[in-house]
Amino acid sequence: MKQEQANGLLRLKTVAFNEARDAVVILDQTQLPRRESYLTLTTAEDVWEAIKRLKVRGAPAIGIAAAYGIAMCMRRWKGEDRAAFLAEFERVKTYLGGARPTAVNLTAALERMARVMRRHPDAPVDEWRRLLTDEALAIRADDAQACRRIGENALAFLRPGMGLLTHCNAGHLAVSEYGTALSPIYLGQERGYGFKVFADETRPLLQGARLTAYELREAGVDVTLICDNMASLVMRQGWVRAVLVGCDRVAANGDVANKIGTSGLAILAHHYGIPFYVLGPTSTIDTRCATGADIVIEERQPEEVTEMWYAHRMAPEGISVYNPAFDVTPHELIRAIITEEGVFYENI
Ligand code: MRU
Repeated sequence: MKQEQANGLLRLKTVAFNEARDAVVILDQTQLPRRESYLTLTTAEDVWEAIKRLKVRGAPAIGIAAAYGIAMCMRRWKGEDRAAFLAEFERVKTYLGGARPTAVNLTAALERMARVMRRHPDAPVDEWRRLLTDEALAIRADDAQACRRIGENALAFLRPGMGLLTHCNAGHLAVSEYGTALSPIYLGQERGYGFKVFADETRPLLQGARLTAYELREAGVDVTLICDNMASLVMRQGWVRAVLVGCDRVAANGDVANKIGTSGLAILAHHYGIPFYVLGPTSTIDTRCATGADIVIEERQPEEVTEMWYAHRMAPEGISVYNPAFDVTPHELIRAIITEEGVFYENI
């Protein structure tokens, strides 16, 4: 990737903390690719709403938004009483943690924020505010570093010129920088690997069409958009040599929850003998879930299926709709789960 193209990508700030204004600033992903517009969030309700409505989305990005959000709320909370501060912290933590259920990064980031206060139980309230701010910034910095390392570790599994397929958006927009599943693609681009990427559009919210296609093209990557139901044909043609996806929660046995449609792709990849890789930070591994059956799957509004993106409602009024946002891919179908620390799970 040429330097100016890398800068083009990094120009997009998924989530930022404005310390001077005590505000969280997000790139409103519901407006992409039509408009790059930023939203300034100043209350817990703003942050909850932004996460719930997918204005900020992607497992690591919602963790960062929640960490920035709780730091911002506690900086804006003006009391000096330590017990009241802790009570307010718990209230905001429970509230933000309830915005979306599947991506463990959301609650993991909020737990990390709670731990920093527990490490300094006797600190005055102002010191807690500073510690929370520093911890939230550290969560973002750690994620950026993890994403680069995931890219390096995953690149070892890929060869120049490969055709790759990805689902949903596990790129720069879903994290702090670079992405998880898209990180090796960006690193490969910088090193002249010449990958040819197929991006699934990802019904019903079209993260692949709106976000992955957008950010890969911004970075100068060779990307072709396909509808979800075209993946089998593209694989059969021999155009896909590896599938790369992100993850929202990884169970202890290696089962993976990710965007709805991921498990179907894994079954197709298995059928065609194509390696299926899951890329994510260790913060997405939830050892408290023994298997994928323990992962709560978010269900979303029927209108996302029947109306959104259509000029006119396209399904009959009153039709029953089932709209799960994620599915679980069993570990047997996954060639490797690649993290910043190396391979968490491998199936050879
Ligand atoms: O509903 P979304 O858009 O938040 O779902 C996002 C995904 O499923 C991503 O693949 C996952 O969070 C990995 S992000 C690096």
